Amino acid sequence: MATLAKEETDFTTLPDMPADVFTAPLKRPEHVGEDWLEPKQTEYDSEDDAIWDDLFKRQMEILPGRAATAFLEGTEKLDLGRGGVPDFGQLSEELGAMTGWSVVPVPMLIPDHVFFWHLANRRFPAGNFIRTRETFDYIQEPDVFHDVFGHVPMLTDPVFADYMQEYGRAGWRAMEYNRLKALGALYWYTVEFGLIQEDVGLRAYGAGILSGPTEAVYAVEAESPNRIMLNVDRVMRTDYVISDLQPTYFVIDSFEDLYHQTVERDFEKLYRNLGPGFTYANTAVIDIDNVVNRGTLEYTLRGGRGSGAKPV
Ligand SMILES: [Fe+2]
Repeated sequence: MATLAKEETDFTTLPDMPADVFTAPLKRPEHVGEDWLEPKQTEYDSEDDAIWDDLFKRQMEILPGRAATAFLEGTEKLDLGRGGVPDFGQLSEELGAMTGWSVVPVPMLIPDHVFFWHLANRRFPAGNFIRTRETFDYIQEPDVFHDVFGHVPMLTDPVFADYMQEYGRAGWRAMEYNRLKALGALYWYTVEFGLIQEDVGLRAYGAGILSGPTEAVYAVEAESPNRIMLNVDRVMRTDYVISDLQPTYFVIDSFEDLYHQTVERDFEKLYRNLGPGFTYANTAVIDIDNVVNRGTLEYTLRGGRGSGAKPV
């Protein structure tokens, strides 16, 4: 279980970054410290709260029958529809009582190693702003709606909550091997765009799917995308695009399956055998795949976002 991070790594305070590790150079705003935490949560006005309420209402009309049971139960347990942008203090208290996680406000982008460190301490960094009416349908930078509505309900599930903490610890290990790209693909295809096979059918648990209206339908029901059972080695060699609907989704049997597949394996060996680039295109179906259904790729082949192609 301790193969993801070095057992001796102490995450109580931000560990020192080895000098030869590369992370994206981000300029730290003057008002935040080494932990990149905002001194306090933004005070949202009534229009901001109305945007949250409208986004919440729209998603909750779409998600029953499409979102994972754990996600829908999480939104209820945390009462995310109580009105307005949730208060992080109250949210953290309630979430803390369930799984020991808290939600903390950060600027738009924070460095990878700081993000991993917060996860390793069961703190989920969430954007300290909300989208506007002009960007209501789609924004590329994660705002408080994506971060809190999309991610936080899953943190009420005890096994998924443990997976997220281990992912943070894994980040430090991946940096040592310069394999952040591969670990990023794992995050992408699980935490952001994961599907789960439930008794009642396929359901979505990834925040990138659940926080938007189009992909929530497309990921679960459209004929275009491939749906393939998760294989960690394969996923970590697979390219991904961040600006369009996914041509391929990876499916898990259960969160226990996800936890065991990732946390209980030798990532060190895996990193030593991975190239710095990706091996597989995000549209590829390969010999070893356990295919749930092979997509037509019609949406992607017609040109995807911006081409007028329908997400079918
Ligand atoms: Fe996200």
